[in-house]
Amino acid sequence: MTAEPVETPTTKTRYDADVLATLTADATAIMARYPDPRSGLLPMLHLVQSIDGYVSRDGILFCAEMLGITAAEVSAVATFYTQYKRHPNGTYTVGVCTNTLCAVMGGDAVFDELSEHLGVGHDETTDDGAITLERVECNAACDYAPVVMVNWEFFDNQTPETATALADKLRLGEDVVPTRGAASVCSFKQMSRVLAGFNDGRADEGVGAGAPTLAGLRIARENDWTAPDASTSEPVAEPVETGPVGKPGSSAERPTATSSDTEVGKDKKPGEDAK
Ligand code: FES
Repeated sequence: MTAEPVETPTTKTRYDADVLATLTADATAIMARYPDPRSGLLPMLHLVQSIDGYVSRDGILFCAEMLGITAAEVSAVATFYTQYKRHPNGTYTVGVCTNTLCAVMGGDAVFDELSEHLGVGHDETTDDGAITLERVECNAACDYAPVVMVNWEFFDNQTPETATALADKLRLGEDVVPTRGAASVCSFKQMSRVLAGFNDGRADEGVGAGAPTLAGLRIARENDWTAPDASTSEPVAEPVETGPVGKPGSSAERPTATSSDTEVGKDKKPGEDAK
């Protein structure tokens, strides 16, 4: 029997006591990973999705209460990233890559066919709650275009026909096997728990890089090509001073707020930068 929702003085959420206790223990573990606990907000939102299937009103309140921030601050983050769902998600997110390369290789046709076949558009869920269809951006799998992701597992080199057959299997509850990576596809809630940082032990399943990805390496080995020896290569020119912000290079390699950062532009006459 499911416990009745509780409203205690310490929470405005309506989670029942058991769920709240589990959520609190998991969120505490997440917060402990970071020097500043509020850095744990992103995985905590995935944790909420692993329980509710989306970032619910209660999930937002829970994160705010745990981190000592406002619900508005949590919402601002949750609405920024497309991986956080503001309405109940299907058991499977079927994401069709319609970024440039996949699009020209047939991704747009795959999406259109799936959309018509399932009767839903972008970010909409089938009536049976099985599939949420999405257009997704490049998944760094362009060598397998067009790519379809099911709960972030790869299904490479798709066609409208293979994609609709895949969707039909998912709706029937049949097992599907990703082209690479894990040997099976878990549910949206299970995947969300992994994204919250709780290992399901499947990260090393299957091959990560297929033949197209390794083609360059294979050709190099067949031809005995190697990278130039850095010690005998032409010397690289020294960085040049470019102005008051210091030497060029990654901003990550220097302190965040040097005096030259804060002094930029100070005491300059209008138009001096253009000289
Ligand atoms: S454009 Fe689709 S994976 Fe890169």
